[in-house]
Amino acid sequence: MCGIVGYVGRRQAQDVLLSGLEKLEYRGYDSAGVAIFEDGEVRVEKSVGRLAVLGDALIAHPVRGNQGIGHTRWATHGRPSNENAHPHADCSRAFVVVHNGIIENYQTLRDQLLESGHSFASETDTEIVAHLLEEAWTGELFSTVLAVLPNLRGAYALAIMAKDEPGTLIAVRKQSPLVIGLGDGEQFLASDIPALLEYTRDVYILGDGELAVLQSDRVLCYDLAGNPIGKEIFKVTWDAVAAEKGGYEHFMLKEIHEQPKAVRDTLSGRIAEDGSAVTLGELDLSEEVVRSIDRIHIVACGTSYHAGLVGKVAIETLARIPVDVEIASEYRYRNPIVTDRTLILVISQSGETADTLAALRNAKMAGNRVMAITNVVGSSAAREADHVLVTWAGPEISVASTKAYTTQLIALYLFAAYLGQIKGTIASDERAKLMNAILELPLKIDEVLKTAPAIETIARDFSSWDDAFFLGRGLDFAVALEGALKYKEISYIHAEAYPAGELKHGTLALITEGVPVIALVTQDELYEKTVSNIKEVKARDAHVLALAWVGDEEIEKSVDRVLYVPHTLPFLAPVLLVAPLQLLAYYASIARGNDVDKPRNLAKSVTVE
Ligand code: F6R
Repeated sequence: MCGIVGYVGRRQAQDVLLSGLEKLEYRGYDSAGVAIFEDGEVRVEKSVGRLAVLGDALIAHPVRGNQGIGHTRWATHGRPSNENAHPHADCSRAFVVVHNGIIENYQTLRDQLLESGHSFASETDTEIVAHLLEEAWTGELFSTVLAVLPNLRGAYALAIMAKDEPGTLIAVRKQSPLVIGLGDGEQFLASDIPALLEYTRDVYILGDGELAVLQSDRVLCYDLAGNPIGKEIFKVTWDAVAAEKGGYEHFMLKEIHEQPKAVRDTLSGRIAEDGSAVTLGELDLSEEVVRSIDRIHIVACGTSYHAGLVGKVAIETLARIPVDVEIASEYRYRNPIVTDRTLILVISQSGETADTLAALRNAKMAGNRVMAITNVVGSSAAREADHVLVTWAGPEISVASTKAYTTQLIALYLFAAYLGQIKGTIASDERAKLMNAILELPLKIDEVLKTAPAIETIARDFSSWDDAFFLGRGLDFAVALEGALKYKEISYIHAEAYPAGELKHGTLALITEGVPVIALVTQDELYEKTVSNIKEVKARDAHVLALAWVGDEEIEKSVDRVLYVPHTLPFLAPVLLVAPLQLLAYYASIARGNDVDKPRNLAKSVTVE
């Protein structure tokens, strides 16, 4: 976790670093800090808490200088405190370092450094890097860094400055993300592109095991052995405003409302004009390979895992290929049965989630075929997978994932239809019917979003309860899981999702008078069964909100309130059901006075296991 930035050029570094860190606060916000060259000395300023605290301190006592590094922290080693906030320096304060990731062998290195007389100001794994640089100093920063790196095990993105070498910044990437922004007489580095967009659209995406030396007039890239490497400039075409709140009170609300566009963008160019076929040439998956696939393992975490559960139904229904959906942190430590006919499909919005990447890398090392569905083009998942399907949701800033999930569903439906089309497991008229229904989804999501005021009222009522239960069968259950995750993650209310038929095997004991139960009833074949389960909770005086198809007046007899969604194929219902559930979570969080976009203890990109 954590976000890092760096700048060398002619502007006031303080301003560039603070504006970059602001865009990276989603990566962690326990503490923040900057180190800036001022009159030949490196001045370090840090504070616990949000970036605004540091910003206020710097306004009161500005640091004047044109080169610096900065950090926003999500604590891993050592609690959030001033001492543990980055940047970190060595004993003689000659080297300063900011870091995103984990140095796994830090304890051994720390013990060795202690023995050779170093003393430490923090509990962090990062500080040892500054001390190792001090030990290895060759009189020149580049060769010193190269000498230190082989000692470090784990994942890291580092930005380093040395007091004796003003004008140079070194950036190193091993697994954790890092991009370099190229300017005219100035250069930038950051954990993520939005931090650079105010200044440049030309970037180098550093690869795993690459290092960059930044000076105001040039950037040179190397491998970790110090051999120069050529890098291609990646031109960022998306809009900087797309990464801002655009008039909404929170990024989450903005991102919920962006779903019709995100779905449209994700569909764009992937369905033939007459709706007869899916075109996914970008996947670079030959028909022969598709025909050979006899099992798919979907591997992901959190919300992406929930999208995978819908993907399983989609692929099994349309392509008749058996699918297992696995949580990445479990899968990576199992010994799954994989053959050369198995496709490993990782799903990750960020493309940087440590457990998902580890599963991807294990699969690649074992020689298996890996596909990634991701929202970030230059991400590790996108670069390392054999086949990539990008979701065009645009940058997602709010920690709680919304539009990324919905576009993952779309990508999975398209992929399932594509497989079915090649395998001949879906008749062409059925495929056309499905494609037309998919193309209508953006307008239908727009309709759903219009119910926001009603949802706000319900959420306000529900927010005084400490529990909520989400029920559904089949695909309704898959979405119920996502609804419960969203609800607990931002409202801090205990929320659980259950297959409606499973409730009576234990959880029914928790149903008491008035407790909110959210029941999803869009799977026509299972409708009556779910209604029976609703009756079971109503008999215990629960307060039931149903999510049902427009026109289902019958359901009103069994529940307390209903939210209606426009009709589509039950198979596609998850795409329409999730928006009301996201809004319910959003308004419950607001009613409780929480920080919606930055829920406690969480961070957007989970780059540690
Ligand atoms: C919840 C949420 C997380 C992520 C999970 C995986 O709202 O956002 O559960 O879905 O951390 O992240 P990605 O998709 O980036 O691998």
